[in-house]
Amino acid sequence: MKQWWLDERAYAGKEHLDESYVSGYDRKAGFDPTDDIEVLEALGLSPESVVVDLGAGTGLFTLAVAPVCRRVVAVDVSPAMTAALRERVEHLGLDNVTVVEDGFLSYEHVGAPADVVFTRNALHQLPDFWKAIALERAAGMLRPGGILRLRDLVFDFAPAEAEERIDAWMSGAVTDSAIGWTAEELSEHVRGEFSTYSWLLDAMLDRTGFDVTERSFRRSVYGTYTCTRR
Ligand SMILES: C[S@@+](CC[C@H](N)C(=O)[O-])C[C@H]1O[C@@H](n2cnc3c(N)ncnc32)[C@H](O)[C@@H]1O
Repeated sequence: MKQWWLDERAYAGKEHLDESYVSGYDRKAGFDPTDDIEVLEALGLSPESVVVDLGAGTGLFTLAVAPVCRRVVAVDVSPAMTAALRERVEHLGLDNVTVVEDGFLSYEHVGAPADVVFTRNALHQLPDFWKAIALERAAGMLRPGGILRLRDLVFDFAPAEAEERIDAWMSGAVTDSAIGWTAEELSEHVRGEFSTYSWLLDAMLDRTGFDVTERSFRRSVYGTYTCTRR
C-alpha cells in the first residue's frame, strides 16, 4: 500500500465501528431494498448475476438480493458490520454470499466480473479525490454494460442555495436517534463527512466511465443514481 493511500477505516465513521450502534442500525436506517431490486431486475439482474455491495453494512441489500442472483460479495471496512453480517448469512444458511472486510479503495474483485455494483449511504465517507478513485475501481469490477446503482446523501443544489436547503433538510430530522437521524447527527454529517454536490458527482461518474441513465433526489439530499458502465 502506498504511503499516501487513505486509511479507510479511519474515515469509516466511528459509529460504524461500534457494536452497539451496529446492533441498532437496521431499526434506525429503516431501509427497504425492494425498489432497488425491482429496478435492477428490470435492467437484467437474474439468477446468473454477480453482485457486489460496497459498504454493505448489516447487509440489508445483500440479504435481499442473494435469493435472486448467483453470487453476492458484501464488502465493508468495519469489523463490527462484517461480523454482524457474517452471523446473519450463517444463520440464514446462504451459500452464495461472501462477506469481505475491505473498502472501496482496497477490495480486489476476483472471479467473474460483476453485473451489478450496489452502494448505499457509504461513498460519502470518502473525500472527493477518493470518491473518484472508488468509482474508477467500481467500474473496474463491472463488465461493460454492467450496472452501478449508487444511493447516497448528495447535495442537489448550488452553493448559494446551501443554507436554505440544509435548513429545510434539518427540519425533517427526528428527535429519537433510535429511529432515524437527529438534527445533531445530520449537522455532524454536513460538517464532518464528505457528501458532495450532485454536479460534482455527475462529472466523477462520467470521468470514471459511467453513463447515468436515471437520477433522482428526495429532499434535495437523498440521491439515487442508476448508471451503465461504458
Ligand atoms: C450508513 S452505513 C450504510 C450501510 C448499508 N449500505 C445500508 O444502506 O444500510 C455506511 C457503511 O459504509 C461502511 N464504510 C465506510 N467507509 C467505507 C469504505 N471506505 N469502504 C467500504 N465501506 C465503508 C461503514 O462501515 C458502514 O457499514
